Amino acid sequence: MFSKLILPALAATAGLATAAKSASDPCKQTTFTVNSQADISNLLSCTTLTGDVVIGNQTDATLDFTGINVIDGDLTLLNNNMVSTLKSSSTTKITGAFHLQNLTTLSTLAFTELTSVGSINWVSLTAIDVLTFTAGIKTAENIVVSDTFLSNLDGLDVVSAGTIDINNNHRLVTYTSSLANLTNLLNINANGLNLQVSFPDLIWIADMTISNVSSFSVPALRTVNGSMRFDSNFFTTFNAPNLTSTTTGDVSFVSNAQLKNITLPQLTSIGGGFLIANNTAQDQINGFGKLKTVGGAINMRGNFTDIELPALNDVKGAFDIVSTGDISDSCATFKKLAPSSQGGNGDIQGSYTCQSNNAQANSNPTATGSSSGSSSTGSSSSGSGSGNKGSAAAGISVNSLAVLGLAGVAVIAQML
Ligand SMILES: *[C@@H]1O[C@H](CO)[C@@H](O)[C@H](O)[C@H]1NC(C)=O
Ligand SMILES: *[C@@H]1O[C@H](CO)[C@@H](O)[C@H](O)[C@H]1NC(C)=O
Ligand SMILES: *[C@@H]1O[C@H](CO)[C@@H](O)[C@H](O)[C@H]1NC(C)=O
Ligand SMILES: *[C@@H]1O[C@H](CO)[C@@H](O)[C@H](O)[C@H]1NC(C)=O
Ligand SMILES: *[C@@H]1O[C@H](CO)[C@@H](O)[C@H](O)[C@H]1NC(C)=O
Ligand SMILES: *[C@@H]1O[C@H](CO)[C@@H](O)[C@H](O)[C@H]1NC(C)=O
Ligand SMILES: *[C@@H]1O[C@H](CO)[C@@H](O)[C@H](O)[C@H]1NC(C)=O
Ligand SMILES: *[C@@H]1O[C@H](CO)[C@@H](O)[C@H](O)[C@H]1NC(C)=O
Ligand SMILES: *[C@@H]1O[C@H](CO)[C@@H](O)[C@H](O)[C@H]1NC(C)=O
Repeated sequence: MFSKLILPALAATAGLATAAKSASDPCKQTTFTVNSQADISNLLSCTTLTGDVVIGNQTDATLDFTGINVIDGDLTLLNNNMVSTLKSSSTTKITGAFHLQNLTTLSTLAFTELTSVGSINWVSLTAIDVLTFTAGIKTAENIVVSDTFLSNLDGLDVVSAGTIDINNNHRLVTYTSSLANLTNLLNINANGLNLQVSFPDLIWIADMTISNVSSFSVPALRTVNGSMRFDSNFFTTFNAPNLTSTTTGDVSFVSNAQLKNITLPQLTSIGGGFLIANNTAQDQINGFGKLKTVGGAINMRGNFTDIELPALNDVKGAFDIVSTGDISDSCATFKKLAPSSQGGNGDIQGSYTCQSNNAQANSNPTATGSSSGSSSTGSSSSGSGSGNKGSAAAGISVNSLAVLGLAGVAVIAQML
């Protein structure tokens, strides 16, 4: 009798106690909502917060997370025009996304001990001109920094990453990184007009799309396991002394107005297409002394007087070169590689075109016709490859890649 009564009672008490404990464990929540410094003070019995920290849009001006060492979840702050300082001098790790967006008053972002985050997504931070990340973020899988007032990215210095997308930071003038390996996409686009980019340690990269930069240094780069495209940059020279191959993608340089000299002395094979177009200052192509194999088409449009590809002996797609200048000597050499139907030895498998003195070479090269099939194959295959890889990454980088890709295809289409 007694036991019959007491057991359910005990069980009920135990059940209540468990429920109460998990509901009130101050350090484990689905979401920690923070609107004030007092809300943070209430969490300081925890050195680790397990769950997502969401900061509201009506908050104190200063929010200091010192005392919290680890956020095992996301840290999110969106659409807030009251906060001016977000900081912590003890937080070392945020395992999820560090997401800051649409913050027009945030001028101090200081996480002096932070070294590891799951991903960084900082968009539309229009008042912040400097990062105070003294220890420096060494680990982040994906990084998006877009539409900020930052003039450098010091303190964001990862050695490996999936995606890095740096766009529309109009004051950004230097970006130096010890990145060694990037497995998805590097996109740099529409930043400050005098942006100097330097990756002294970069060895291996999947895809890269680089636009509007004034210098781009990759002295150690060995492999591009996808495409590299350079559109509308301001540099006069591009040099990748150690690059030996691009595995599947394209190599393209389009509308780089000051570019005179491209030197890739060790490059032996390009997996996809090879496009050089509308770099009107470039009169010579002679920096590809070892290039043997091109898996797609070769397409060149410009103000050339001399084009040399002395090692070339295998082009799977078309060969289509048009110049405003006289390249008849170069054409005579390339003609020997044309398909046998065009009188050559067949090293070039697609159709062969080589044309001098076409004033429309940069603007309206439809005059030549013949190669639109192969070159559009080249660009669409690189587009879908990048798209697939991009889909694993943050939405914004996929979108900006798609935009870039479309813009690039449009430019190419316009040029054909
Ligand atoms: C501010 O946050 C509240 C509560 O989450 C939300 O309902 C409101 O839409 C937000 N306002 C803005 C401008 O995002
Ligand atoms: C940005 O945040 C402000 C409030 O600070 C809000 O009024 C505005 O709608 C937000 N803009 C966007 C694009 O979400
Ligand atoms: C870079 O990372 C990829 C993917 O993890 C790997 O296959 C490749 O070997 C790495 N390259 C270097 C130089 O570490
Ligand atoms: C930046 O590059 C894009 C192509 O990616 C181009 O359309 C745009 O005109 C360039 N902007 C400047 C200022 O060069
Ligand atoms: C370029 O490659 C050579 C030979 O593999 C190597 O000795 C040299 O250190 C590399 N250069 C850089 C800057 O990594
Ligand atoms: C390199 O590119 C090839 C072809 O796209 C792909 O199959 C492979 O997975 C890539 N390697 C890495 C390590 O991403
Ligand atoms: C050629 O490049 C210039 C910038 O150097 C650009 O203004 C022009 O639109 C480009 N032409 C085409 C057809 O893309
Ligand atoms: C082109 O650049 C390479 C590497 O920077 C350099 O060695 C070469 O002399 C340059 N050529 C011309 C014609 O300026
Ligand atoms: C390129 O060629 C076109 C057509 O001949 C000419 O109008 C233009 O001035 C040339 N540009 C340069 C930089 O030489």
